[in-house]
Amino acid sequence: MGRKILIVGSGGREHALALRLLASDSVDEVIGCPGNAGMRRPPPDLAHKTLRVAEGSPVEVARREQVDLVVIGPEVPLCEGLADRLRAEGVLCYGPSGAAARLEGSKAFMKEFCRRHGIRVARDVIVRAPDELGRALASFEAPPVVKADGLCAGKGVVVAESHQEAKEAAERMLSGQSFGAAGATVVLEERLLGAEASVHAICDGQNSFVLPAAQDHKRIGEGDTGPNTGGMGTYAPAPLVDAVLAERVRKEIIERVVDGMAADGTPFTGTLFAGLMITPEGEPVTLEFNVRFGDPETQVLTMITEGDFGEALCAAARGELSADLLQVTESHAVCVVLASEGYPGTPRVGDVITGIERAEEESDVRIFHAGTKLRGEELVTAGGRVLGVTARGSSLAAARDRAYAACDRIEFAGKQLRRDIGARALG
Ligand code: AMP
Ligand code: GLY
Repeated sequence: MGRKILIVGSGGREHALALRLLASDSVDEVIGCPGNAGMRRPPPDLAHKTLRVAEGSPVEVARREQVDLVVIGPEVPLCEGLADRLRAEGVLCYGPSGAAARLEGSKAFMKEFCRRHGIRVARDVIVRAPDELGRALASFEAPPVVKADGLCAGKGVVVAESHQEAKEAAERMLSGQSFGAAGATVVLEERLLGAEASVHAICDGQNSFVLPAAQDHKRIGEGDTGPNTGGMGTYAPAPLVDAVLAERVRKEIIERVVDGMAADGTPFTGTLFAGLMITPEGEPVTLEFNVRFGDPETQVLTMITEGDFGEALCAAARGELSADLLQVTESHAVCVVLASEGYPGTPRVGDVITGIERAEEESDVRIFHAGTKLRGEELVTAGGRVLGVTARGSSLAAARDRAYAACDRIEFAGKQLRRDIGARALG
């Protein structure tokens, strides 16, 4: 009998992980907890397997369902120690301990860790009280980037245009007005120029398997305009990170984190996601670490790897990752997010979604659900980012054309999308 795997979370990332795991030879069944509307049944090509959702706390569901592995999607349960609780129950779990998750959960911890282990980061000053702010600000010639220490659902960073704006943002954080306790400590950081890339590595506490670099598109508007979002689309591999740079990222960043965490007694098991700025001199500088798969980076990364993903994550969870479990293919993938009207402000919900089956008729296309729900028999919008329309191709242009053809088959009132996903790499 094949494996039964529980995925904690409810977004597009979790749907993508679920389908990638379900496509693994060693996996028969995947359960989303709580999952989403897309995870209630398997897609037609995997109809011989089981995909479903379950209610309840992940620890309870894991125990009740006797699953072989739990994969934790989002950062909040990781930072709250869910992996520790599962391991204490004897459940095999892919995801870092609460102590290791501080790499994402505290930016001050991350910066101190990087300094101790020789990982290049932007110059920073950590501010723990309002009376330290004036001096800290004065030490930056150009306006610094202001970061709340704790988890803020991706909203805790202010790229200030003036010292005054930085001061006001920092004051709002320190007073608790912006993010409550998550802003009680603030990191002021030198603003770097360059192009951003995300590098993900699957880690087993000692070893890592580095995936191709991806690029996200954070702003709502084409040409990187308008407010920030959770991510409007991704593509991979990102040619910005060539083979030489990828090797440097592996050696100077990923391996140093894995070795440093092990040396500090908090080994890192799970996905390490390095958010990098590639400076105009071609230097990779780490802006942030996430301790989980990115959303929507996962949607493209899962499309360009081959091998038994279920076996690879189980091996990583057991501390027995080996390099031959996964292979990176020669293909390219593009994910275009379809968002609802109003996003990234208050999204309108309840609009009927049509055309998904027709979109999926395109070969090498997957439609990952995020903010959807079933209203009777109808699928309706239920959040800001609704669907991640993802396609694979033998070139970036082919993958992009296929993804947009699929996007055009899906309709709902107020549908928003960016038409320039991947444009940077296509020139
Ligand atoms: P973070 O959550 O730390 O990745 O920050 C969110 C976004 O803020 C990044 O993706 C960058 O676009 C921007 N950012 C963060 N730190 C810096 C920095 N030191 N210089 C320039 N931009 C930054
Ligand atoms: N796409 C960015 C993130 O998952 O944090």
